[in-house]
Parts: sequence; C-alpha cells; structure tokens
Amino acid sequence: MTARSTLADAQHRKRVAVLISGRGSNMAALLAAAKDPAYPAEIVLVASNRPDAGGLATARDAGIATEVVDHTQFGKDRAAFDAALQAVLTKHRIELVCLAGFMRLLTAGFVAQWQERMLNIHPALLPAFKGLDTHKRALAAGAKIHGATVHFVVPEMDAGPIIMQGAVAVQHDDTEATLSARVLAVEHRIYPLAVKLVAEHRVRVVDGRCLIDGEPVPERPEAFY
Ligand code: GAR
Repeated sequence: MTARSTLADAQHRKRVAVLISGRGSNMAALLAAAKDPAYPAEIVLVASNRPDAGGLATARDAGIATEVVDHTQFGKDRAAFDAALQAVLTKHRIELVCLAGFMRLLTAGFVAQWQERMLNIHPALLPAFKGLDTHKRALAAGAKIHGATVHFVVPEMDAGPIIMQGAVAVQHDDTEATLSARVLAVEHRIYPLAVKLVAEHRVRVVDGRCLIDGEPVPERPEAFY
C-alpha cells in the first residue's frame, strides 16, 4: 500500500449498516457517536427484519436510510432471506455491519462474506449466558458479575472473537429490569468504542482472540481508547 492510499484509507469513514429487530437503543448510541466527524465510521443504513421495529423511526428521524427485509416473506428459506439482506448491503455499499438487537440467525455463507467485518453486541459476559433472557439467567445463577460483550460474528451463535466487554456488579436486590438497565448503559458505551477500533483497523484476530494495536484487550478499555 502506498503512503497516499494509507492516508486516504485513514481519512475514509467506513460505511456502516446497523441491523435491528426492535427498539434500537444501541443503534441510537452508534448514531450519536458517528455524529462526530472525527468518528471513523458513518451509519449510512439501518435495516430491520421487522417492519414494526421501533428503531426504524429513530433512524428516519435522524435522516438515515432505512430498509426492511421482512423475514416472514421468506418462510423457512434462510438463505433467500440472507441473499435479500446481502443485496441491500451491497446497494448501500456497506463496509461494516453492526448487529444491534438483531434477533435472527444468519447462515454460515452470509457470515463468511462478512468475516471480521460484522460485529454483534450481546447482553452478557460471553461465553457465559449465550442466547436469550441473559439477565434473568444471570440472576437465577447468582452471578456476582454480569455485563455485555462486543464480538465478531461467526456462524455459531453468540460466539466469535471478543473485541470488548464491560462488566457491572450484580446487586443483591437487582431485578431483571434494574440489571438490564445497568448493562444497557454499558452496551451504549462499549459498542461505539469497539466499532471505532474496528473501523480504524486496530483490531486483529490472532488464534481466535482479538488484539488491539497488537496488545491484549485491557480490562477497562474505556480508559485506554
Ligand atoms: C440489547 O440488550 C442487545 O444486547 C440485545 O438485545 C438488546 C437490543 O436492545 N441483543 C441480543 O440479545 C442479541 N442476542 P436495543 O434494540 O435497544 O439496542
């Protein structure tokens, strides 16, 4: 790569699609971060598999293009749904995909096309509590520490190299509502930070683990980047 193209790449804001299925508060956190012209990514598309996703209105109000690929139109044909989604991403010249409360499994073929260019946020400290109802299960298990994880997407659900985690202490009197609210606040902090580092090409996967700037991810990344 020449010095000139390296500079051009550094100045280029990555074109990001955020995929949602619901209220879209993580999407809103990403939109807020990307308002800063110095942020290395711009959210150019918000897409949903559900026409009634609340976050679509938030995106439209912010002047962001939206698309709906309604999974109910595809029956059990996951490959056809993913092909339609891919067509939308191609149309908008997307470079990075952020799953933000996108409640659909993607086919291995689709995931392979976005290897290390598709991120997900999960409301637990992976590999603990994969799947749904994470806060309820953390409380039931008597977990003392809970949190959220941003990771690269691989075909296996809620797996993939961990880019960043944020933890909260579980209080004795926490309910699902109070715990999920504290974890959500953490999500809103770490997701924009993780996307920033990926967009800046600072995250590398070595033997299934992420390094940032060639170093292991620190325990409190907010303090470092
Ligand atoms: C978030 O807590 C996100 O971590 C979770 O859904 C919520 C979406 O909220 N994602 C998953 O559970 C994915 N397995 P949001 O729509 O307000 O961002």
